Amino acid sequence: MAEKQKFQAIRGVRDLLPPETALWNRVEQTAHDVFATFGFGEIRLPIFEVTELFARSIGADTDVVSKEMYTFVAHSSKYQEELYSEIEEAYDDSIRSGDENLFLTPARKFIDGLEASLKGGEIGLTAGTEAALQSLTSTFRRYEQALEDPNLKGEPELEILRHELFFGCWDCPLGETITLRPEATASVCRAYIQHGMHSLPQPVKLYYLGPMFRRERPQKGRYRQFYQIGAEVLGGTDAPAIDAEVIEMVVTFFARLGLEGAKLDLNSIGCRECRPEYVKLLKAELSKPEIKDKLGADSQRRIETNPLRVLDSKLESEQPVIEKLPRIAEHLCPACAAHYASVKHNLVLRNVAYHENWRLVRGLDYYMRTTFEITAPGLGSQNAVCGGGRYDGLIEILGGLPTKGIGFAIGEDRLILSLQEAGKSPAPRRLDVYVAWMGEKTYDTAVRAARALRGAGFAVELPATAQKFGKALGHADKLGARYALILGEDEVASGQWTLKTLSDGSQSKFTEPQLLAHLKL
Ligand code: HAM
Repeated sequence: MAEKQKFQAIRGVRDLLPPETALWNRVEQTAHDVFATFGFGEIRLPIFEVTELFARSIGADTDVVSKEMYTFVAHSSKYQEELYSEIEEAYDDSIRSGDENLFLTPARKFIDGLEASLKGGEIGLTAGTEAALQSLTSTFRRYEQALEDPNLKGEPELEILRHELFFGCWDCPLGETITLRPEATASVCRAYIQHGMHSLPQPVKLYYLGPMFRRERPQKGRYRQFYQIGAEVLGGTDAPAIDAEVIEMVVTFFARLGLEGAKLDLNSIGCRECRPEYVKLLKAELSKPEIKDKLGADSQRRIETNPLRVLDSKLESEQPVIEKLPRIAEHLCPACAAHYASVKHNLVLRNVAYHENWRLVRGLDYYMRTTFEITAPGLGSQNAVCGGGRYDGLIEILGGLPTKGIGFAIGEDRLILSLQEAGKSPAPRRLDVYVAWMGEKTYDTAVRAARALRGAGFAVELPATAQKFGKALGHADKLGARYALILGEDEVASGQWTLKTLSDGSQSKFTEPQLLAHLKL
């Protein structure tokens, strides 16, 4: 007998179950409702994209791109697909016919094809490609020799080699590198360019919701598959009113959900003109031995790779040093300083409370000027429930026309956790009617009653098999039903159905139309 296997969801991913999913649905429905009142339309994006899209947008040196992406090689061009499907077919034919020779020529063709396309540059050379090709060629030679060896005819060794050769071809890391999306801003920008959205009335306001994937160390509020609700505004202007309205929309959404105690941190990290100057200054300051020596290994490394990220450090021992570093707000160019001042003014106009945090730099490279983050209570160390900012120029980096952009993404898992901690889960929907049918002769009527009640919008449980009266009522109670509709042979014959109110045990008789009218009251 096959061994029983106990499958578990893999580390860092989880199932969302009822009744909790009712809260997820409420949150998502509220997002649809609130975002529509701000004129946003929903965009549904693919779960995976070419790796290059994320690497170019988010930045190769960021944590997300350098260590957290789920990336794999997918055969993508028609030519590659043909090669792979031919080899698969030949492998199956060879197994089916028991003739190992049948696999030799297609395998040779596969290897030659790959070599030629690599040389011709039609297929991208990815890490490990050459090593894989070498090993494939050597397996092929061993297979060829084994086929000529009369002593090996019919031996399992041949089969093993054929298997090795096939999987060598199949797993050959050639083709497009694909990544499960770690965030969605890059995809929205890709879609904006791809669908020529610059010719739509500007700005284009889009929102999305769905799963994202990052290989982070799992903990409370941090998962490898997590969910975001995000929005982006793309168009020709970077008017500060847009920044403020986007933030106002998140704040309105949180208020509608009853989320209390959320705190908005705001900063401006300058533009391509003033930021490099500030980064230079910061780097020089951080490199001074009296400062560098007081920093931990991570921050010391970041002095070279990304000095701004040192400001992000939560390490207790580094805080006094960081507090004394030069602040970007004092080094913004006049245009950025005016933009930042206007964003703040626009937030005040909209009654949105903010807290200026000069150390808020965010972990993705595409940001410029406005950055913001919202933290919520009840989450422990992973308390950022929303992050966002302006990313003018990203569309150009991706090959589009000069375009301004700003947006945010809310961590839905964290939002839900915070709402749950605050006791904001909705009461699960109650079962209205349990149809207790007694005996086969009553079944037709029970089905009809269930259809009519569900049609009128009631939640109905219709047991699939006949039950004894006591057991049926016990089951109805356990499910938390408000009523049991009792259908015995008498009820069916007279057309007078018995409705029992389970909270007080009272009973009344109704015809079908009377019953519907009574329940609707
Ligand atoms: P982010 O700060 O990387 O920004 O992510 C936004 C939010 O997603 C975080 O504040 C957090 O709530 C949630 N989040 C991130 N990683 C995880 C995780 N492993 N587990 C649970 N929740 C997580 C972005 O993704 C940008 N695309 C936001 C944006 C949109 N900026 C401009 N437009």
